[in-house]
Amino acid sequence: MSQSFTNSMREKASKLSLKVAFADSEDIRTLKSAIILKEQGIAKPILVGNEAKIKELAEKENVSLKEIEIVEPEKSEHLEKFANMLYEKRKSKGMTESEALAIVKTPLYFAGFMLETDLVKVAIAGNVSATGDVIRASIFTVGVAAGISIVSSYFIMVLQDGRKICFADCAVNPDPTEEQLADIAISSARNFASVTGEEARVAMLSFSTKGSANHPDVDKVVAATKIVQEKAPDLLVDGEMQADAALVASIGERKCKGSPVAGKANVLIFPDLNSANIGYKLTERLAGAEAVGPFVQGLKKPYCDLSRGCSVDDMVNVAAICSLMA
Ligand SMILES: CC(C)(COP(=O)(O)OP(=O)(O)OC[C@H]1O[C@@H](n2cnc3c(N)ncnc32)[C@H](O)[C@@H]1OP(=O)(O)O)[C@@H](O)C(=O)NCCC(=O)NCCS
Repeated sequence: MSQSFTNSMREKASKLSLKVAFADSEDIRTLKSAIILKEQGIAKPILVGNEAKIKELAEKENVSLKEIEIVEPEKSEHLEKFANMLYEKRKSKGMTESEALAIVKTPLYFAGFMLETDLVKVAIAGNVSATGDVIRASIFTVGVAAGISIVSSYFIMVLQDGRKICFADCAVNPDPTEEQLADIAISSARNFASVTGEEARVAMLSFSTKGSANHPDVDKVVAATKIVQEKAPDLLVDGEMQADAALVASIGERKCKGSPVAGKANVLIFPDLNSANIGYKLTERLAGAEAVGPFVQGLKKPYCDLSRGCSVDDMVNVAAICSLMA
């Protein structure tokens, strides 16, 4: 991750020093990142998992957990309450009380309910668990944010000249509907602004700019843009537009005269997962940008899914950035 960007994120987060629950705790990277977060005051880490196993791992790896709190779901006073909460949320889908109790004993769900009940402000997993399992746990515990229909993801691409551009949704939804695409745009704009402190200028990307091509894929982006304008009238958003019109001032001026976004977009909303995933990887590999993320968004509260290949440093950075989303 770009050093100056992430350092500034760590600095901002340390002013908040929020409680962060790690659900995949039986992993040395989690222990090491928790120690750094605690020592540097960036956050107050809580390790969720089997206490004996976590301590055994710490001893084997020769790290000292000092005062870091460990919460073992099975022994927690909150277990029954959380089981009830899950049962109430899922009974209409056929979940029984005993199934709910078994599920909340797993750290992914227990950490989710710690987040839901404000015992922590951020939950993090995914360094061991699969993406689908983490996202499902987040949906069934904290759930989606008010007015938002879909959980999605965003990256912050840090360009070589230091500019930061948000790309979404590069990791979760293969083919969002127009309503879902609009919600991805709104969530991304809010998160980009709260993480970077910059005003979001959202470009709804397409292979067409302002009617230059006719196709159902273009219609979807046009419709999504209208929905964003209606749902979030204060947001600077425009589309449909091609990537060059979004990013290059002279082209934006020529193709989208008077647009508040064209030529200076800092939030790029791709029409589907194919274009988004390809787009961020090309930007990374051909333009030498750094991809910071992906961050899960659209939830009521930040429950972050890490990549299983993440480093200790990545985990510390993600804890810092998610603290700014809280
Ligand atoms: C999100 C995900 C876990 C859902 O998978 P799933 O459980 O098979 O999906 P289902 O269609 O059975 O949905 C299960 C529930 O989650 C909800 N749901 C699914 N995707 C959702 C989303 N993006 N946002 C909000 N809710 C969602 C469904 O509405 C459903 O709710 P219900 O049971 O109350 O009706 C899945 O799409 C996924 O794994 N995405 C990540 C893809 C990935 O691995 N990307 C690579 C990462 S780099």
